[in-house]
Amino acid sequence: MSITINPTSNAGAYISGIDLNDVTVDDVEKIKAALGNYGVAFFRDQSITSENHIAFANCFGAIDINRFFTPLDDYPQIAQVLKEPEHDSNIGENWHTDHSYDQIPALGSILVARELPVSGGDTLFINMFAAYDALSPEMKSKLEGLTATHSSRHVFGGKDNTGRLKNSENATQDAIHPVVIRHPFSDKCALYVNPEFTVKVNDVAQTESEALLNSIYAHIQQPEFMHRFEWLDGSVAFWDNRATWHKALNDYPGQRRLMHRITVQGVALHG
Ligand code: SIN
Repeated sequence: MSITINPTSNAGAYISGIDLNDVTVDDVEKIKAALGNYGVAFFRDQSITSENHIAFANCFGAIDINRFFTPLDDYPQIAQVLKEPEHDSNIGENWHTDHSYDQIPALGSILVARELPVSGGDTLFINMFAAYDALSPEMKSKLEGLTATHSSRHVFGGKDNTGRLKNSENATQDAIHPVVIRHPFSDKCALYVNPEFTVKVNDVAQTESEALLNSIYAHIQQPEFMHRFEWLDGSVAFWDNRATWHKALNDYPGQRRLMHRITVQGVALHG
């Protein structure tokens, strides 16, 4: 089997010619390069077991067990992303990048489709390299050297935690990261603020911070930077948190959707 990488015109690349139950060192290097250049690796027609989901994740780093998600009984490294027919809200409905509230944010997550609704339940991804590249030179120089504060408190610290562990007392994380980071795999510049976890741009007044974040968020959400991933049986998506935002659509009322997610540890981020 030989691996083929087909970049989309917006966010991510489709990778074929690979069996995720049995990856080689060369496959891992190619996937890292795809993450560092396109932000997400999409795979079709996989039949990955839970053991091999864990083994595949370990090829990219240690597993970061999410504090707020319900793990599988037999595999504590795997978090359930579950919406039951009676649930109104889903996990990940707002634009975000996972774990930006951690001092050392997770590299990314590997999401495996286990039970899909008849229709709906797609995930949207936005490419933070493309969004950065399309900024005006003035905006790029304005953002240079700025940092922002991220927090888990306002998200996991009390409101509806449907489908997650009810442990809001564990939502104590705050972290400061550059607004523009250099990706650890490719050294490419990416925007690193997100509407879910970023609370403030530092060293500017609150009103200026709000105006700046709102203008960056409006810029980022242009369709040119966005890819809509349709989940099919056997689909797997591996997104890089340092290069993308994602959003899980909540458009399948009364149906069940079950995904298995493993998050991989990352490194400290630099501008
Ligand atoms: C998530 O944000 O981890 C969930 C993504 C999805 O369920 O599509």
